[in-house]
Amino acid sequence: MTDSTSLELPPLHDSLTWLTPLSEERAAHLVTFLSDPAPTDVLDMGCGWGELLLRVVESVPHARGRGVDRSPAFIERARQQARIRGLDDRVIFDLMPGLEAQNAAADAVICIGASQIWGPPVEDAQPLDYGAALRSLLLTEPSSPKPTGGPAASCAPN
Ligand SMILES: C[S@@+](CC[C@H](N)C(=O)[O-])C[C@H]1O[C@@H](n2cnc3c(N)ncnc32)[C@H](O)[C@@H]1O
Repeated sequence: MTDSTSLELPPLHDSLTWLTPLSEERAAHLVTFLSDPAPTDVLDMGCGWGELLLRVVESVPHARGRGVDRSPAFIERARQQARIRGLDDRVIFDLMPGLEAQNAAADAVICIGASQIWGPPVEDAQPLDYGAALRSLLLTEPSSPKPTGGPAASCAPN
């Protein structure tokens, strides 16, 4: 008989690319949107494994990226991927609550499947107050954002 408490499962990243229901087509669209005009600093709030941030930085040769997440395992995985893909000189991943990074300078901001990091009143609203999440995200933008591009917030189904 199998002892279910000793069941060993492979890490999620062995079978998943994202921690959210995001298609490759939608991801490619977001990378294109975030890459033109080319950002200098890209911030990913609740980055998980950092896959989208890494793809954006890969597509914009001089861009710098910063991902924040409160999960040690996800941040470790993201850092490992940055090293493997030769991006660790341009991308950093910080283990911290997302709200602590909300004043970080960035000219493109990602928040995919992580609207809960904004807390109340966003989190308390049922159904989830997507508008409030987007408004919170826009507050992270610099006062003079570029004319196009800007934050990509996917608070709705992808
Ligand atoms: C559904 S996953 C999405 C991850 C990633 N954006 C993606 O699309 O693959 C939500 C992420 O938000 C992170 N998260 C949740 N609350 C957070 C908080 N208060 N501060 C930072 N990260 C948070 C989780 O650890 C998780 O990685």
